[in-house]
Amino acid sequence: MNVVVLGASGGCGRQLVQLGAERGHRVTAVARSSSKLEVPPGVTVDRGDLTSAEFLRGVLQGQDAVVSGLGLKLPGLAPWNTPEDATFLSRSTAALVDACKATGVRKVIAISAGGVGDSLSKVPGVFRFLIKATALKVAYAQLDEMEQQLLRSGLDVCIPRPTGLTDGPLTKQAVVAGSFKGRATISRADVAWWMLDQLEAASFAQRTPMITVTGAS
Ligand SMILES: NC(=O)c1ccc[n+]([C@@H]2O[C@H](COP(=O)([O-])OP(=O)(O)OC[C@H]3O[C@@H](n4cnc5c(N)ncnc54)[C@H](OP(=O)(O)O)[C@@H]3O)[C@@H](O)[C@H]2O)c1
Repeated sequence: MNVVVLGASGGCGRQLVQLGAERGHRVTAVARSSSKLEVPPGVTVDRGDLTSAEFLRGVLQGQDAVVSGLGLKLPGLAPWNTPEDATFLSRSTAALVDACKATGVRKVIAISAGGVGDSLSKVPGVFRFLIKATALKVAYAQLDEMEQQLLRSGLDVCIPRPTGLTDGPLTKQAVVAGSFKGRATISRADVAWWMLDQLEAASFAQRTPMITVTGAS
């Protein structure tokens, strides 16, 4: 499949590029011009403004699907920390939807987070507190906006909501969970592997599944 990876320089994005290429996809890794980006042989690199529909229209020509590891950059979780660009995700999602419609690319898989939208009541209380009381509230509002835009778009979308991300190894043990308990975690490699499984499936079983390796309930 011809697959575009948005946010290819990020933790999950790097895994999507590496594992996507290993699984035989023709991967185009996309990141802004300042990103640190190293890709395996055979992967195409495209750099530009991720909030520009014009740029993304060019990137998406001839592609079959988009997988996104984009997220807000937060300097820390203290309540007074402000993101580098507080509306980046809503603007990049609007540009992506425009570009998908213009180019006929219908399949989009983008990472959200456990606790976003109607999953808030399904994460542990300590985590609900962190979402409400720390700088995470800005990121979660943007992830919610991203989800709403994608769900409204009429595109074929899957928006996994992972639990706490780690840089641990690929276990291929990710499961869809009804709720999370304790210190539920999943490695970025497992998130990417699960997303690539969905990419290769005939259809998406769920639009906004919560996924984890540990702490499913
Ligand atoms: N941390 C957790 O425990 C956790 C749990 C659940 C869900 N999530 C969510 O999972 C997603 C992926 O997480 P991650 O750790 O892989 O993220 P990450 O390493 O921070 O990667 C974020 C990606 O977005 C790009 N990006 C951010 N702001 C940008 C901007 N203004 N312009 C262009 N590109 C921009 C980054 O590019 P640069 O490299 O150029 O900065 C990078 O490629 C995030 O949305 C996060 O909120 C996180």
